[in-house]
Amino acid sequence: MSTNIAVLGAQWGDEGKGKIVDMLTPHFSTVARYQGGHNAGHTVYVHGKKFVLHLVPSGILHPGVTCIIGNGVVIDPQALFKEVDELGRMGIDVDGRLLVSEKAHLILPYHRELDVLSEARRGERKIGTTSRGIGPAYEDKIGRRGIRIVDLLGDREALATEVRENVSARNRIIKETTLDWRPVYDQLLAYGERMRPWVTDVSLYLSQNVAEGKRVMFEGAQATLLDIDHGTYPFVTSSNASVGGVCTGLGVPPRAIHGVLGVAKAYTTRVGEGPLPTELTGELADRLRESGQEYGASTGRPRRCGWYDAVVVRYSARINGLDALALTKLDVLDGLPEVKICVGYKVESEQVSEFPADLRLLTAAEPQYETLPGWVKPTKGVTDFNALAVEAQRYIRRLEEVSGVDCAIVSTGSDRSETIVRKESAVARWLADSRV
Ligand code: IMP
Repeated sequence: MSTNIAVLGAQWGDEGKGKIVDMLTPHFSTVARYQGGHNAGHTVYVHGKKFVLHLVPSGILHPGVTCIIGNGVVIDPQALFKEVDELGRMGIDVDGRLLVSEKAHLILPYHRELDVLSEARRGERKIGTTSRGIGPAYEDKIGRRGIRIVDLLGDREALATEVRENVSARNRIIKETTLDWRPVYDQLLAYGERMRPWVTDVSLYLSQNVAEGKRVMFEGAQATLLDIDHGTYPFVTSSNASVGGVCTGLGVPPRAIHGVLGVAKAYTTRVGEGPLPTELTGELADRLRESGQEYGASTGRPRRCGWYDAVVVRYSARINGLDALALTKLDVLDGLPEVKICVGYKVESEQVSEFPADLRLLTAAEPQYETLPGWVKPTKGVTDFNALAVEAQRYIRRLEEVSGVDCAIVSTGSDRSETIVRKESAVARWLADSRV
């Protein structure tokens, strides 16, 4: 039997999913994105060369691998073309290897304006979005007025009506400027023509591939704590980044997912607003930010940094049914005299061990830490678990215990090669069973 796995973020995003997906890709024939949009930024280093991908799955860097953008993704065609053109300049041809769901919704040119406006109107309560128009595009989708890729390729009159109505709704919201629907319509037609060769019934493609025993990797963007339903609402993105999004965002049944790998950093970061219980300030935060290069891949914003939070990862493990963790950026902690793991919260003198839905409680939560000794011997580039400093091994073992999930992969640097895949782990079993 083939083994299809989902790889998704177990914290607030930027866990290093891009690298993990990239290193696992040679074992898969297809990599499929199921949600989000170009708010994501996956940074991958191959032989020292940096690639930042926003929409196209990072599997594209591997010749022969098919990459899919599912119906759960919102697509800004301009962003997609820019990325495809950049890949082309780097010698990576996407034709025949990039498939885009006909049911995916579009981010229209004015969705970005609406995103910025909605943030401005929230004032103090702003979300800190990436201003890419993601939220407004999903709003139109759920409001049943969205425009899908398939709509660009069929009845032109129906499309014209949709565009006219959408643009006039925009004009009712943004009164300072008036947008003419016609150029938007013309542009959309041109976009549709460029995308036409990529447009596919993704659900059908995947079901045929799975039936043939080909292996598929489902690639998440953002992360569980940014999930619209299970994240720190309203400080979340507008899609289901957790495992449920795989089924709805690609049209695959739950039984097509045979394993779920959560990606978690050896510490915690978050970009944008909203509670972050283990957040650090001062020198230690700066130290993590600088050595971890914690600046947004999409927006360049400095990321907020804190200690590893096992309450968060335990919660993620439950929501997603995580089979294993890929623990990333362990090397960033190299040289610290001590390291801390948050094992619970204290809220109003009560001990809390489960992640609260009420943001007031989360904001008031005082992390309860266990302190472990740091390590002097660098973990950077280590590829064998037993070669890690004993203190680093102890940190990982304790982190596994309190998170309730094993670390199958430990990443010790940004390059593909700087990775430990632990023997006897879920990932080792999945890969042993490989039949691409
Ligand atoms: P949006 O997805 O642009 O609407 O932003 C909503 C929230 O999700 C904000 O806090 C963003 O900073 C956050 N966010 C969106 N994409 C990413 C990502 O790829 N990594 C980390 N945070 C993200």
